[in-house]
Amino acid sequence: MTGSTPASGADAPADGPVFTVDGLWKVFGPKAHRVPADPALAALPAGELRARTGCTAAVRDVSFEVRKGEVFVVMGLSGSGKSTLVRCLTRLIEPTAGAIAIDGEDVRAMDRARLRALRRHRAAMVFQHFGLLPHRTVLDNVAHGLEIQGMGRAERRERAAGLVAKVGLAGLEHRRPGRLSGGQRQRVGLARALAVDPEVLLFDEPFSALDPLIRRDMQEEVVRLHREEGRTMVFITHDLREALKLGDRIALMRDGRVVQLGTPEEIVGSPADDYVRAFVRDVPREQVLTVRTAMRAPADAAETGHGPALRPEATVSEAIEAVARAGTPARVMDGPRCLGIVDAPALLDVIAGTVRPTEGTPPSADGAPAGTVRAGEAADLPGEADLSGEAAGIPGEAGIPGEAPGLPGEAGIPGEADLSSEAAGLPGAPDRPREADRPEGAV
Ligand SMILES: Nc1ncnc2c1ncn2[C@@H]1O[C@H](COP(=O)(O)OP(=O)(O)OP(=O)(O)O)[C@@H](O)[C@H]1O
Ligand SMILES: [Mg+2]
Repeated sequence: MTGSTPASGADAPADGPVFTVDGLWKVFGPKAHRVPADPALAALPAGELRARTGCTAAVRDVSFEVRKGEVFVVMGLSGSGKSTLVRCLTRLIEPTAGAIAIDGEDVRAMDRARLRALRRHRAAMVFQHFGLLPHRTVLDNVAHGLEIQGMGRAERRERAAGLVAKVGLAGLEHRRPGRLSGGQRQRVGLARALAVDPEVLLFDEPFSALDPLIRRDMQEEVVRLHREEGRTMVFITHDLREALKLGDRIALMRDGRVVQLGTPEEIVGSPADDYVRAFVRDVPREQVLTVRTAMRAPADAAETGHGPALRPEATVSEAIEAVARAGTPARVMDGPRCLGIVDAPALLDVIAGTVRPTEGTPPSADGAPAGTVRAGEAADLPGEADLSGEAAGIPGEAGIPGEAPGLPGEAGIPGEADLSSEAAGLPGAPDRPREADRPEGAV
């Protein structure tokens, strides 16, 4: 769902990545630094590492880029390291090893003032439990970040009023959070994050406390905002459907590692290992995979001139409808060029999973490659995950005590001040699938 307009906010280079993360580690526990530094320790499964060192490697050697204007989803079961990873991006949690840059600037080298500016202006966080100031009105909650920035009262209230309307809360400006529904509160959290016009929005499972209908509303709200503004977003979820709906790309985490990084179509169509395969098994493939995965080369010139025309991004589900309605195969068209043909048997094969989508994708009629999976992405992945051994080692400790102290003078920023209570509820929450569960339990 890459937006059409450029992200607003920072003085970033036009097309470089927003975040660049390279070899990032976060290890909790005594003498944490020795874990990434020692290949023998670094290679230990979670349970053994804990038994031998008392340490938990929440993020293990993770590398990725967040591209400008994309929605980058971090997905994984409870305890897989999602929150830790995203909090490391702005050093709400201090990384143990590795490099992080925002617009090319080294985040790990930032001094306090620079870090504060990063969190206030460039990367705003939306939390699961809202983190609103209970004694302030909706309007003042939204204006709060602007107040901290030093904006005058009239100006900030005007700007806040615009954002309150933007997230669909016009008329509720003077309510206190206690008199709002969960969905409304989360909209306030969203408006508050947007108020500072950050270059990137970081969402830590913002909708998981909401009931399904309100959750869907909020997802649509995010899609709409992204479409309108093209703002870069990093979105954590343990819900595969949410990830598929929102993500331009998804990083799937397990035990602190990214086991696959790719588009929804790549993750569903070409799972990197059995773990990912189990994760995506129940996804309706026809709604995620595109016609590119089902098309073949035209049999002859006549075929390129007949049949309904589909865009290369059309889903298999849309193609089924077109083919059924026309009673003939459909053409996949890139403007005037016919890239290939999709017919009923090939579409059924995709649904049945009887062909691997990356295999058998033909060259297009004019010889251009028509494959869907970008080769480089899957090549970086580790091999088959050991489902049995690692899952056993997940510790049950909750919270991130002491890790996000906030900088001096930062206590007034709701997101940061709320971090410890926010974290405390998460890893052990009873209704959440845990890493030790079977993956399909999460979907
Ligand atoms: N302060 C801490 N001390 C020790 N271990 C921690 C700390 N914070 C997190 N962990 C551990 O690090 C791992 C990753 O935790 P994290 O909160 O990042 O997971 P998560 O994927 O966000 O989970 P959830 O979906 O439940 O929010 C877990 O094993 C967790 O118990
Ligand atoms: Mg979390």
